[in-house]
Amino acid sequence: METVFEKAYLENDELNMDAISKAAAFLEEEKLVAFPTETVYGLGGNALSKDASKHIYAAKGRPSDNPLIVHVADIKSVYPLVKELNEKAKMLMEKFWPGPLTIILNKSDIVPYETTGGLDTVALRMPDNKAALKMIELSEVPVAAPSANTSGKPSPTKAEHVYEDLDGKISMILDGGEVGIGIESTIIDMTGDIPTILRPGYVTKNELSKLLGEVKYDEALLIRDKEKAKKIVPKAPGMKYRHYAPKADFILIEGDEEKVIEKINELVTEYENKGYKTGVICQDKTKDRYKCENVISLGNKENEVTISHNLYATLREFDKRETDYIFGETFMSDNLGTAIMNRMIKAAGYQIIDV
Ligand code: TXA
Ligand code: MG
Repeated sequence: METVFEKAYLENDELNMDAISKAAAFLEEEKLVAFPTETVYGLGGNALSKDASKHIYAAKGRPSDNPLIVHVADIKSVYPLVKELNEKAKMLMEKFWPGPLTIILNKSDIVPYETTGGLDTVALRMPDNKAALKMIELSEVPVAAPSANTSGKPSPTKAEHVYEDLDGKISMILDGGEVGIGIESTIIDMTGDIPTILRPGYVTKNELSKLLGEVKYDEALLIRDKEKAKKIVPKAPGMKYRHYAPKADFILIEGDEEKVIEKINELVTEYENKGYKTGVICQDKTKDRYKCENVISLGNKENEVTISHNLYATLREFDKRETDYIFGETFMSDNLGTAIMNRMIKAAGYQIIDV
């Protein structure tokens, strides 16, 4: 299949309506289009079409029990897709949409099980990207879209990443440049008594609690131990897969900054001596401290969006450099750091060394 590749914005930052109309037409025909959002690129198809959803799973090589997020261009488009839009969920939409928050509600009959991975609930999101919103609006359908990567690879943060993974497998890639946030949306389940975060993201637990009162994390998110992780099944089916993974063995080193630097340098020497190619993921402040040829800084640690923005591209870069072992500093905080560490720990397959 030929994949059409077009820019979503013109040079003056205006929408490239020719390209966006073409993308919308593909969606109407139940074909697949990769498009930019503020989090990561999505691989879109008509969410009401069983066939389009099946094609999405096939193009990504994704297990079909892993449900898709349905993207809308306005709140009113949610009503036909859900059993009931409760007051709290509506408040969330009004406050955080368009934006990086996915809300889970009970689905209506028109949403096929092919889209929800067999579940009676549906995940809903309005992305904060003008080209994406215009495309969805023109297509006149809700758009099911997982991240536009091959299953198991880091999510794409630029159109070139989508191209690497999906060229020849989908109808179109709408190139909107680099995304802002760089890691996937926060997912909150609003179907139970207590709102539950199933995936941490840019919208934090604190912000959600301010509006909703008590909010909890799905217990599977708090696990840092591989054996425990095998036993507790996360409520978001996608969170159970080894996601976001680089080809290299990725090991996180956590603790006092000086000790972390010392330990990473020790590991670099040890593995280089064994003949392996090593890499280090760190922050601006520490990047000159490593005795390794492949050091990539995610940015200034105080600026968490820079860190999240650079994370997946960095993991892909280490793949390109054919690195065998990556040693990483950690980036925990109460804000975006929670989501950054959730992705890093999964990418590392729970390999964490405390120093
Ligand atoms: O930022 C994002 O959310 C991006 C952009 C493209 O919008 N999308 C994204 O989709 O990350 P994906 O498919 O890579 O991740 C969707 C996650 C999976 O972990 C899936 O299991 C979960 O959402 N999910 C979807 N529907 C669900 C449902 N009804 N119940 C529980 N989890 C659900
Ligand atoms: Mg994904």
